[in-house]
Amino acid sequence: MGTLNGKVAIVTGAGSGMGREEAILLAKEGATVVLTDINEAAVQVVAQEITTNGGEAIAFAHNVASEEEWIKVVEDTIKKYSTIDVLVNNAGISLAVNLLDTTMDQWNKVMNINVASVFLGMKHVIPHMKSNNGGSIINISSIAGLTGGSGAGAYTASKGAVRMLSKAAAVDYGKDHIRVNSVHPGFIETPMTTDMVADDRMLAWFLSQTALPRVGQASEVAQAVLFLASDASSYITGIELPVDGGVTAK
Ligand SMILES: NC(=O)c1ccc[n+]([C@@H]2O[C@H](COP(=O)([O-])OP(=O)(O)OC[C@H]3O[C@@H](n4cnc5c(N)ncnc54)[C@H](O)[C@@H]3O)[C@@H](O)[C@H]2O)c1
Repeated sequence: MGTLNGKVAIVTGAGSGMGREEAILLAKEGATVVLTDINEAAVQVVAQEITTNGGEAIAFAHNVASEEEWIKVVEDTIKKYSTIDVLVNNAGISLAVNLLDTTMDQWNKVMNINVASVFLGMKHVIPHMKSNNGGSIINISSIAGLTGGSGAGAYTASKGAVRMLSKAAAVDYGKDHIRVNSVHPGFIETPMTTDMVADDRMLAWFLSQTALPRVGQASEVAQAVLFLASDASSYITGIELPVDGGVTAK
């Protein structure tokens, strides 16, 4: 019996990297998974992989920065499965640009995709969790949401906002038995970081930052998401959970 049997989970950005691994793991643990991504072809492939392996999954094209599209995803999920127990706000983009070189368009894009997405997801899912007497929300931030990394002011600000938005929601909706936590990945090997991990100098820098002598895998972040989604973490809300090989321990 899976730890998420009977639960319905939405995972955004599930077409690639961590979102893909999170969706696959939650499905393996018995959840019905609603996978969404702006890349419809990619997310359809992941949903197909889950159903081929005996899981229950559906994929939706979804731009997480659009309120209209959030409303549609939530409506379609409720129509099909009647409930939403778990929301993983995972979709995001990176922007390695110095503060002084960041344009207003870049700033707005990062804030819309990384922060407004989390706000909109919670705004439209929490009412259903309230009527369902609870739920678990996991927002994917970054170690950049915990420490002021260099050369990525807008990205760092966006991930800091995700951290505090999660705490604000945890405080307000705890009375409704809704738990909200943020996960803070460090250097994780995904399509977002392929080029950096392949660059020897960049990899050496990553490894100079971690305590464990390696970069992390998307499946290791997925395990943290599973823990926070499941009843194993039933008294945990408002925390920030680094999955970073010890970067922030230094
Ligand atoms: N890889 C890392 O080292 C790392 C570290 C810290 C935090 N993160 C965060 O983890 C999350 C997942 O990152 P990843 O490394 O798996 O990246 P990834 O690029 O492999 O996957 C991101 C997914 O989000 C989707 N996406 C992008 N814009 C979207 C939009 N507007 N609407 C819907 N979907 C959209 C992409 O199509 C893609 O499938 C992101 O929020 C990222 O900021 C990653």
